[in-house]
Amino acid sequence: MPHAAQLAIITGASTGIGYELARECAEAGFDLLIVADEHAIETAAEGLRQFGTKVEAVEADLSSVEGVEKLLANLGGRPVAALLANAGRGLGRAFIDQDWDDVRRVIDTNVLGTTYLLHAVVPGMKERGSGRVLITGSIAGFIPGTFQAVYNASKAYLDSFSFALRHELKDSGVTVTCLMPGATETDFFERADMMDTKVGTTKKDDAAKVAKDGFQAMMKGEGDVVSGWHNKLQTAIASVTPAGWLAEAHRKMAEPGTAG
Ligand SMILES: NC(=O)c1ccc[n+]([C@@H]2O[C@H](COP(=O)([O-])OP(=O)(O)OC[C@H]3O[C@@H](n4cnc5c(N)ncnc54)[C@H](OP(=O)(O)O)[C@@H]3O)[C@@H](O)[C@H]2O)c1
Repeated sequence: MPHAAQLAIITGASTGIGYELARECAEAGFDLLIVADEHAIETAAEGLRQFGTKVEAVEADLSSVEGVEKLLANLGGRPVAALLANAGRGLGRAFIDQDWDDVRRVIDTNVLGTTYLLHAVVPGMKERGSGRVLITGSIAGFIPGTFQAVYNASKAYLDSFSFALRHELKDSGVTVTCLMPGATETDFFERADMMDTKVGTTKKDDAAKVAKDGFQAMMKGEGDVVSGWHNKLQTAIASVTPAGWLAEAHRKMAEPGTAG
């Protein structure tokens, strides 16, 4: 249980897994600085205040350097006990049919914004000799994402980055945990324009359970967490399967027109 004054930053906390991560942090007694790029973050903040800790909401577009700097300005140099870098977006359909601005937004949010935020916050944690970092990667990072190519590649980056950063910070008092959800019931697939695909329409994991598993792993300082036995099995199989087979299997889940 953290001291009441300890601060957790949760990005992408307006909905889905991020909201549930923020709820876990609030229930554990952290003060919260929550971020998303739409006004719904204020509604999320109202909901989270019921747990009795301080909740500040920042509306910032974390796909841009300016957006991350807006968050940092709101932080104002305060020590961060936990950083949950969760904001992210998906994008379905064939790469060559995707709009370039949408492609760029996925890369800028998932890769650039997340990396810049970590680069700004983690040094302070290391200096103080304590801190918890959770990065929301994905089991998608292990699978070439046919009809979701850019998104899966962005998550491969985050999964890899998370393990490397963890090992750079070994024995520093700062731990890095990679949360790797499987398909989870949130607004994600609707926003990614994937509601005509098999993965967009089949039953998915519960966001609250995924977040609980992620939060507990972060607090224990574990390296990675895959929520759910079926996802653990999928990850184990992916690690010994040729990339070409995985890419073809992904087509069956993500190709437009595969909805059941
Ligand atoms: N759902 C899944 O199946 C699944 C599986 C594996 C990993 N994940 C990962 O889990 C994380 C959360 O996704 P979710 O499933 O909970 O989806 P979600 O409900 O769509 O939540 C995404 C969150 O990220 C925020 N966000 C997106 N782009 C942003 C930007 N440029 N600046 C600031 N905030 C931004 C959204 O806020 P706004 O609404 O304000 O944009 C929202 O709060 C993502 O990193 C996603 O890649 C999801």
